[in-house]
Amino acid sequence: MALITTTDIFKKALNEDFAVGAFNVNNMEIIQGIVDAAKKQNAPLILQVSAGARKYAKPAYLVKLVEAAMEDTGLDITLHLDHGESFEICKECIDSGFTSVMIDGSKYPFEENIALTKKVVDYAHPRGVVVEAELGKLAGVEDNIKVDAKAATYTDPQEAKEFVERTGVDSLAIAIGTSHGAYKFSGEPSLDFERLKEIHKLIPNTPLVLHGSSTVLPEFVDKCNEYGGKIPGAKGVPEEMIREATKYGICKVNIDTDLRLAMTAEVRKYLVENPSEFDPRKYLGVARTAIEDMVSHKIKNVLNASDKK
Ligand code: G3H
Ligand code: 13P
Ligand code: ZN
Repeated sequence: MALITTTDIFKKALNEDFAVGAFNVNNMEIIQGIVDAAKKQNAPLILQVSAGARKYAKPAYLVKLVEAAMEDTGLDITLHLDHGESFEICKECIDSGFTSVMIDGSKYPFEENIALTKKVVDYAHPRGVVVEAELGKLAGVEDNIKVDAKAATYTDPQEAKEFVERTGVDSLAIAIGTSHGAYKFSGEPSLDFERLKEIHKLIPNTPLVLHGSSTVLPEFVDKCNEYGGKIPGAKGVPEEMIREATKYGICKVNIDTDLRLAMTAEVRKYLVENPSEFDPRKYLGVARTAIEDMVSHKIKNVLNASDKK
């Protein structure tokens, strides 16, 4: 078992039309729930850490927890920085053992995004670390990177080709209509599949990444609300659209919001049903099980990644 890059698994994913789940982690229970699901499903796995997660848990804890998870399960895992917004944070993560980093220069003009991405690639590759970049803007909030929904622009296929050729980046996150969080569509959900197909046709060997891939399943929103939550009007990407996207080069699917909802729904239910209980292991235990169930569901029914390890 080892911390590994995504090079081999993305090649396999491109050939076999599945995607590797990239799940955001913030604490021990989340990590345990995810790795236990991946082990049972015999699936490849990316654990990703945002700047916010590093701030919350402190960087050293997350790296050590992922190492512990690897030791406990015997799994090979990719440890990935999600939405790195500067060369410095990418360097820090590379130097502390991450095997994959994302440099998110999507808020910069094309040439600046290329220059920043290339700088990270030049530092990462000699050290055996792979790099994801982003071209095009997702609507919504990505860590500290705020994008006005109206200014959101989808990825241009020709620019994607040029970007990959000039940066040597290992995978590319694209904007085709998804966004982060629980409120992705005001009307009917729709993704620009024609654009995705065009990008995949121009750069068929480049693994593509879909951010903002949570489905926001109504049963979990309803459960939160039944037990005291107030989450009105949430809407995510239908699961069949994610499955469809894996046929056109999407090899990495980022999921955070669905884990948050699953976890919160079970914690709310547990605390309402057990008002005299105050042992954190009880409600964090049900949270961990909720994460495991959600990740198993994604791997098996959405990503087609069971037994692809
Ligand atoms: O893309 C954003 C991820 O969901 C991480 O969210 O910045 O709140 O940790 P966060
Ligand atoms: P969701 O908010 O749809 O789960 O997306 C998470 C993500 O893209 C993390 O980078
Ligand atoms: Zn993202």
